[in-house]
Amino acid sequence: MAVALHRLTQWIAQRPALDKVGDTLMWVLGPTFNSRLVKNAANGTWLGHPLHPLLVTLPIGTWAGSGLLDLLGEDNEQAADTLLTAGVISALPTAMAGLAQWVDTYGPPRRIGAAHAMANNAALALQLASVVARRQGHRGLGKGLSCAALGLVSGAGYLGGHLSYALGVGVDHTAFHDPLEDWTTTDVAAAAVPDDAPVTARAGERQIMLARHDGEIVAYDAVCTHAGGPLGEGTIVDGCGRCPWHGSMFSLADGSVVEAPATTPQPRYDVRLSGGLIEVRAALPA
Ligand code: FES
Repeated sequence: MAVALHRLTQWIAQRPALDKVGDTLMWVLGPTFNSRLVKNAANGTWLGHPLHPLLVTLPIGTWAGSGLLDLLGEDNEQAADTLLTAGVISALPTAMAGLAQWVDTYGPPRRIGAAHAMANNAALALQLASVVARRQGHRGLGKGLSCAALGLVSGAGYLGGHLSYALGVGVDHTAFHDPLEDWTTTDVAAAAVPDDAPVTARAGERQIMLARHDGEIVAYDAVCTHAGGPLGEGTIVDGCGRCPWHGSMFSLADGSVVEAPATTPQPRYDVRLSGGLIEVRAALPA
């Protein structure tokens, strides 16, 4: 079973036809995320964690509950219908949060994300049809439509899990970096850190982004928490380091996320100078 499912995800990841679906989605909905406010809200930057995994519990939970009440008979019809409608309503913000993450993916993750979205949208359409069928007195048809929708949601959930756990979408890309607990000398001298751009330095096994902020040298992990972009090759904009890959902005004062798609702050390092050399160590939590 596991091998068959793995092959299926690989097959989906290799379907160029899904790129056309993705391009159309981007054309229609991509501009929604041009606003920093919308982008930060939908990604979950304010939460410090991707928002989509939290929201998916609402449609899945309410639809599963509704399905269970459908099985329990006539006394539970009103409660089943209420849960069904609540799930339909909650599916809309859930889809927006997923879309916000998806617009900054490429290649296999984008194709699998497109398939995930198509399955969930088909499930939403079936649940909407179920609401209408139930209101018109066709309860048996409504139950059948909801049952088919739950099957689609389960398949979509598998693809969503594959995106996160196998392909690392939404995962903090510094999560497995051991902290530099001792002061470690970098290979970049203080005089080589410019005023208006970040640089990449090496400290032991770790790559560090060095920049100047308010006259001081500051240091952060050079691997962007969003998807691993090289922050030392980015730019400095309005007191923030901007990632060259998807434009996430991190405050140079404390590493907090100012602009999505990143949701996790950038790990910060303490800095001290020793004879013109820069030494860093992992900053202790404030
Ligand atoms: S890797 Fe995506 S914003 Fe940095």
